[in-house]
Amino acid sequence: MKISVIGCGYLGAVHAAAMASLGHEVVGVDVDADKVAALTSGRPSFFEPGLSGLLVKGQNLGSLEFTTDVSRVADAAIHFVCVGTPQKPGEFAADVTYVDAAVDSLVPHLTSSSVVVGKSTVPVGTAERLAAVLVPTGASLMWNPEFLREGHAVEDTLHPNRLVYGVAEGEAGEQATAVLDEVYGPMLAEQTPRMVTDFATAELVKTAANSFLATKISFINAMAELCEASGADVTQLADAIGMDDRIGRKFLNAGLGFGGGCLPKDIRAFMARAGELGADQAVAFLREIDSINMRRRVRMVDIARDTLDGSFIGKKITVLGAAFKPNSDDVRDSPALAVARLIATQGGVVTVTDPQAIDNAAKAFPELDYVADASQALSGADAVLLLTEWPEYRDLDPVATASLVAGKVLIDGRNVLTPQVWRSAGWTYRALGRP
Ligand code: UDX
Repeated sequence: MKISVIGCGYLGAVHAAAMASLGHEVVGVDVDADKVAALTSGRPSFFEPGLSGLLVKGQNLGSLEFTTDVSRVADAAIHFVCVGTPQKPGEFAADVTYVDAAVDSLVPHLTSSSVVVGKSTVPVGTAERLAAVLVPTGASLMWNPEFLREGHAVEDTLHPNRLVYGVAEGEAGEQATAVLDEVYGPMLAEQTPRMVTDFATAELVKTAANSFLATKISFINAMAELCEASGADVTQLADAIGMDDRIGRKFLNAGLGFGGGCLPKDIRAFMARAGELGADQAVAFLREIDSINMRRRVRMVDIARDTLDGSFIGKKITVLGAAFKPNSDDVRDSPALAVARLIATQGGVVTVTDPQAIDNAAKAFPELDYVADASQALSGADAVLLLTEWPEYRDLDPVATASLVAGKVLIDGRNVLTPQVWRSAGWTYRALGRP
């Protein structure tokens, strides 16, 4: 089937490549000529394991091209809207202007048999508003939220744990469902659960899922605060409560908390939208989820300063990790960089290292020092802060690392190292929520 994908960031580029790998004829459109050139040459402008392999010509069953020319979508049967919905500056609400612009740009190219599928994360009510925009064209609208995780985006797109279709009532919805079923045929053949619902429910599935995940993380981080106050160990607490399969161990990793382009902005946008709908009390708890999350960053800085006898001034601090999580070069709302900046403002001499995210970090915060090589970054450090749990940092050898640093102080912001191993190698090991 001929498919268009509007917006070629994380979501769109991966979706376009994944749909081509299923055998479709895909055209990806983006307003950013540099992004289009990078994707065309098989070198995406962001790090996503498995993506560049799918961009190589001849690797897909179907075909794949990227362009800035939206008129190239004209003969596509189905159009996926995959643009971003960032947080509005100075507000909690999501900025949906890119979604509106994407739909407007499609309108001249639609016919009554076209299907437009929204995948972007949007405030509930957006699909209904956009369906009205499409009425003069006769095209159908669907909302099909995407649940992919950065770092696992290709796998999550091709093997999702569920497909959710938000459709209009009646025949139009049934016809659109049949078209999307054809696109996702190979995924449906793998028995992927598929749920067909209304627009509002489909939009809320995404927002509710991300709110639940954020709540799980902040819940265990709140328990970490109690562990710190009482001398308990949050990692053992998480293991024990997670054995109850009604609770589950996933997303109970206490530490520096969540960041990235999704969870923080999605819970804030949810609060803003609930307020507009007169239901702000229903999600008032999300403000607390956000606060618990942000407190972890300050707590991390406090623990580090306390371990260094109350002051960062003149001390060399090595920060391991800049990305908001491993297997990503995304530094949007990165807890690691927030901590690095706080320490720098308190007089610490901070060096940040990361296997993938140094360039993005330097663009976002040029005031910090960056070193690509971890050994070089560790050289002469008074304290080492592990803030993004890349495998290479989890695997650091305490004895070899000790030979590089000036002071054997390690603060584990992600609770991924074994305290006894580091302590027996002579290190002062501290962590969040662990004695
Ligand atoms: C998230 C959702 O998982 C995904 O379904 C949705 O489509 C987009 O938002 P992503 O932002 O890529 O995906 O990252 P995720 O793996 O969910 O991690 C989010 C943040 O939470 C990271 O900063 C991570 O370090 C943190 N986290 C995650 C924890 O602090 N503890 C955990 O137990 C899990």
